Amino acid sequence: MCISPIGTIAASDPTSSSVLNYDQVFIRDFIPSGIAFLLKGEYDIVRNFILHTLQLQSWEKTMDCHSPGQGLMPASFKVRTVPLDGDDSATEEVLDPDFGEAAIGRVAPVDSGLWWIILLRAYGKCSGDLSILERIDVQTGIKMILRLCLADGFDMFPTLLVTDGSCMIDRRMGIHGHPLEIQALFYSALLCAREMLAPEDGSADLIRALNNRLVALSFHIREYYWIDLRKLNEIYRYKTEEYSYDAVNKFNIYPDQISPWLVEWMPNQGGYLIGNLQPAHMDFRFFSLGNLWSVVSGLATIDQSHAILDLIEAKWTDLVAGMPLKICYPALEGQEWQIITGSDPKNTPWSYHNAGSWPTLLWQLTVAGIKMNRPEIAARAVEVAERCISRDKWPEYYDTKRARFIGKQARLFQTWSIAGYLVAKLLLADPSAAKMLITEEDPELVNAFSCMISANPRRKRGRKNSKQTYIV
Ligand code: GLC
Repeated sequence: MCISPIGTIAASDPTSSSVLNYDQVFIRDFIPSGIAFLLKGEYDIVRNFILHTLQLQSWEKTMDCHSPGQGLMPASFKVRTVPLDGDDSATEEVLDPDFGEAAIGRVAPVDSGLWWIILLRAYGKCSGDLSILERIDVQTGIKMILRLCLADGFDMFPTLLVTDGSCMIDRRMGIHGHPLEIQALFYSALLCAREMLAPEDGSADLIRALNNRLVALSFHIREYYWIDLRKLNEIYRYKTEEYSYDAVNKFNIYPDQISPWLVEWMPNQGGYLIGNLQPAHMDFRFFSLGNLWSVVSGLATIDQSHAILDLIEAKWTDLVAGMPLKICYPALEGQEWQIITGSDPKNTPWSYHNAGSWPTLLWQLTVAGIKMNRPEIAARAVEVAERCISRDKWPEYYDTKRARFIGKQARLFQTWSIAGYLVAKLLLADPSAAKMLITEEDPELVNAFSCMISANPRRKRGRKNSKQTYIV
């Protein structure tokens, strides 16, 4: 690994006695590292990472006799040195992947393959090495991930249905179903894959399925996940138990679900995409990564993207406070914490995944700010981070409402905290480099989307500026 590096381990904390699995290379954690390497012109490690993880994708994997779908990428892998067969004095390095079968809670890493596709596109764009995309194994790898995500199931919604803990939040946090983070990464990966798939006879069906899904997914999220003061007021006055094709309250949301905190919290200007939507259930928590990546990928419209950034500015003391950025807001407390997290002692209120603050999210905030031509938001957040992050030895996360403490069980020298900060700095110095991560909506999609909007009965009730709101 030292001769030819293929990744970065999650943390290298000299003060910690139990390393758990932080000595592994996590796919999601490597993304900001990979981007930092690309920005520095060090392309080889990223290429190595892409090709080695690709090999892991086709591993035979089982848990208690059950095999997950083909195409799954591992959450992480470890480099292990083993004696070379038949030669006692020599050793070789092998990779040990974890597809969730050893992870705490046995969580499925749904985000890994999606991030892999996003990194692959960034690598091609930044290094100019397009030969990687011509490789059959790479094309097959993209298609396997797509097939797994686009496979038919029982779903009524175009969003991906996943279990709890299938992304950055990899413990029970009540985000099973259709969490926003996965949907934003899914949308982003579909757009990136479409750009990279080589046109060939065999993939016409896949491309058709991909295009259909892009349209349906963006419609669903923009329309049903979006909330701002106006929409909240609409939900507050919802009629329930509507049976019919033209129901306004399609998911039978009971207005009493609107949490008291949200009524106070929603700013006059700004809005965001909610965390999850299920029958009779809206998770109103604000999840940072899902919202930021919806901006970056264009899953949110231009107006919505600006509104998300407006909200981050308006709620600065809640979301950024002493360290950017809260992973979600607000924390689950009391009985809700007991029931939803299963009384998880690591996810106590305002800690870790339960509204802790994660410095790595700085890089996604920066890309979103640059895309919307508002880099000053990111620059301000970087300034906040700089006040203590290096002195504190680059913790994995911070605790408390105002992010005043280093996280109770946070690792120090957490690689993606360092890489996230580096990427933010490098991109702010050269904003045009962010292009490798950004996707814009293409005219074909806009066209299909506007046809769908005009066919939607809900539109007929009239909403001012409906065109401007959705057609970007
Ligand atoms: C924790 C985080 C996860 C991260 C891993 C390695 O499990 O929740 O998002 O990938 O640590 O840093």
